[in-house]
Formats: sequence, structure tokens, C-alpha cells
Amino acid sequence: MLTRTDEMARSLADLQPVASDSLLQLIALCNADPRPEKIDVGVGVFRDGQGNTPILKVMKEAERRLLETQETKAYLGSAGDKRFAELLRPVLLGEHADDDRIAGVQTPGGCGALRLGFELIANANPKARVLVGTPTWPNHPPIIRGVDLEIVEYPYYERGQGSIRFDAMADALSRAEPGDVALLHGCCHNPTGADLDEDQWRRVVAIVAERGLIPLIDIAYQGFGRGLDEDAFGVRLMLSTCDEVIVAQSCDKNFSVYRDRVGSLWVKTASADTTATAMGHVFQLAREMWSMPPDHGAAAVRIILDDSGLRERWLVELAAMRDRINSVRTKIAAADPRLAFIGRQFGMFSMLPLSTGQVLKLREDKAIYMADSGRFNVVGMSDDQVDTFIAAVVEAMNG
Ligand code: LMR
Repeated sequence: MLTRTDEMARSLADLQPVASDSLLQLIALCNADPRPEKIDVGVGVFRDGQGNTPILKVMKEAERRLLETQETKAYLGSAGDKRFAELLRPVLLGEHADDDRIAGVQTPGGCGALRLGFELIANANPKARVLVGTPTWPNHPPIIRGVDLEIVEYPYYERGQGSIRFDAMADALSRAEPGDVALLHGCCHNPTGADLDEDQWRRVVAIVAERGLIPLIDIAYQGFGRGLDEDAFGVRLMLSTCDEVIVAQSCDKNFSVYRDRVGSLWVKTASADTTATAMGHVFQLAREMWSMPPDHGAAAVRIILDDSGLRERWLVELAAMRDRINSVRTKIAAADPRLAFIGRQFGMFSMLPLSTGQVLKLREDKAIYMADSGRFNVVGMSDDQVDTFIAAVVEAMNG
């Protein structure tokens, strides 16, 4: 693939075709499949027992209030909705909410936050290397390459075992250079579902602090694992220990506002002054990329978080989504000892012990759509598809 720095490309006519993103391709393939029995466990959107992704009831109410009360759509500036970030602060940062060395800004989804965070790192140190666990969300590497930072992979997951390769991960992080960036998943690891436990977080935080690394934590599923506070354990522990921390956050999943693109970037440095300088860079970078983030979804989230009644209702709906995720996990895990690990994992994703060939065969023969890697969305299927899914997977595993 040619990049923007490739000297061969001098005009648009010189551009070489690029493979489209594999997940977007999968969505298109699944949409085009006419078989009514198809099971879509590809893309990471929450679906309820009926297989729908409804707008949360509390979100509908917030949008109604927004429609009735919003008087202008004039520009808000690169920081977006400041009250949104203010209200999100305690949800994400917990006991660190009052720390004036931490600043946050609204972004277009978690993806926008990631791009902005890596752009900030590249501004500070273009030679920083980014340590990325394997496997990771397939869009992480392109975002990092997009800002010309070097990627160094570290082992994260033992696929056959369904467990984290913690010693190998710790060893790789221990050999990183000061100033390198450690990309970590805050909770509900995408694509594996295998989260660091509290002891493992403690060890990772100690290594990051000792080696002088900058942690960039991607937290896109807060509340989908164990609970809002539990899922922020790693983020908060890192903030307790390290002077420099970057957090890319998303509300797209936990408020179910996917296409509205609601996220935020959080930056902690050693002092309020240096954080203010870093945020100056953040605003300028945001200005260059999208100027100002889209307003609607963040404004609706702000309305929910600003009203204790609506906030309570959101927590109830969030808990219902989490309960469904965990109950489908439990059911799949109980079906076969080889799938038991799924019951010990968190969030929407797990990776099945299937080869790409087996995944493609499931797609062809049974209209079951999951990523080539074997990643599947636990709540992509409706309740009445779970048994069919399990039977097909067990048959595939049996070869
Ligand atoms: C996913 O991993 O399926 C979601 O985060 C959607 C995406 O953009 O990849």
C-alpha cells in the first residue's frame, strides 16, 4: 500500500487500490447475504434478546428534551461540549475527578480520541514507539501508522487457552525504552474479552512507572464488563501512580449512540501548567482534523448525566445490557469445556478457537458472520439464535 510519504504517488492517478477495512467488509458481506437464518456476530454493536440495537429509552427522553430546549446550533469550539466532559469526569476518573493535572475534551467517538492522543504523542516525541498487544483492535495499528509512530508488538493472548500471556507481556513492557507508549485496553478487551485482573494491572502499572513509559488506555466499553467503577480500575490505578497518562474514552457503546460518535480524550501530566500546554496542542490538533466535534450525541449524554433521575435510568439500562452479555457468555461457556474460557471473560467479544478456514466455512455453510480471526460478538445474536450458534461452533471445533 502506498502511503502519503511514498514518492511514487504524485497524483491521484498514481494511487494504488487499498484493501478495505476487514470489519467494514464483513458488515457489507453480511448485509448482502439474503439467507434469513443468518447470524451476525461480526460488528461490535450490542443487540438485545430480539436481535435489535434499540435507542436507550433514557436516550430518547434526553433527545426529546434536547429538541425542545436547544436554541442554537452555533459553534461550540474545538473542546466541544465542556459540560459533557465535566459530567463524564467522575464517571471515568472516580477519585481522580478533582485532580487539576487531568483535562478532558470531547472527541468524535473513541476513534477520534485515539487519533488525537497519538497525534499529541507524535507532537511531543515523534520517535516514541508504541507497544501494541497482539491481538488488538484491528484499527489501532492503522491509526498509529497514520501519525508515523513506530509499532512494537507485545504478546497478549494465548488463543488456545483463552488466557493472557502475562509473563511475556510484562517482559516486553520491561524492555521498552523510557518515552515509549504502552497501548492498553481499559476493560472488555477487543478482540479477546481477556481483561487484566487487579493484580496484573498492579504489575503493569509498576512496570510502566518504573520504565518511564506513557500509558495510552483505550476504554470503549466501560460498564459492559463488571460495572462502571470496576471497569475503570486500571485507568484509575494508572492515574494514581503515573505522572503522564492518556485515556481515549468512548460513550458510543455504553450510551448506545454508535453513529452519533461520542467520545473523549483525557490527558494527565505532572502539573496543571504542563497539562494546560498539552491541551493547547490537543485543541490545535482537533482544529486541524475536525475543527469541532459533532454535538448531538454528546449533548444528549450531557442531559442524562446532568439529571439524577435520567442518570439512574441510564444505569439501569446499562446494567441490563451488561446482564445480557454475561448471561449469553455463561450459556456458551457451559455448552462445551473448550468454550469454558468465554465465561471468565468480559465485554462483547471473545475469540473462538477456530482457524480462518473454519470461520469462512461457518460463513458459507451456516451464514454465521464473525471476523476472520474468530472474534465474535457475544451479543450479536438474538436469544433464539444462541443454540444454533453454539451447535455450529461445536461442530466446527470437532472438525
Ligand atoms: C468493533 O470492533 O466491531 C467496533 O469497535 C466497531 C469498529 O469500528 O470496529
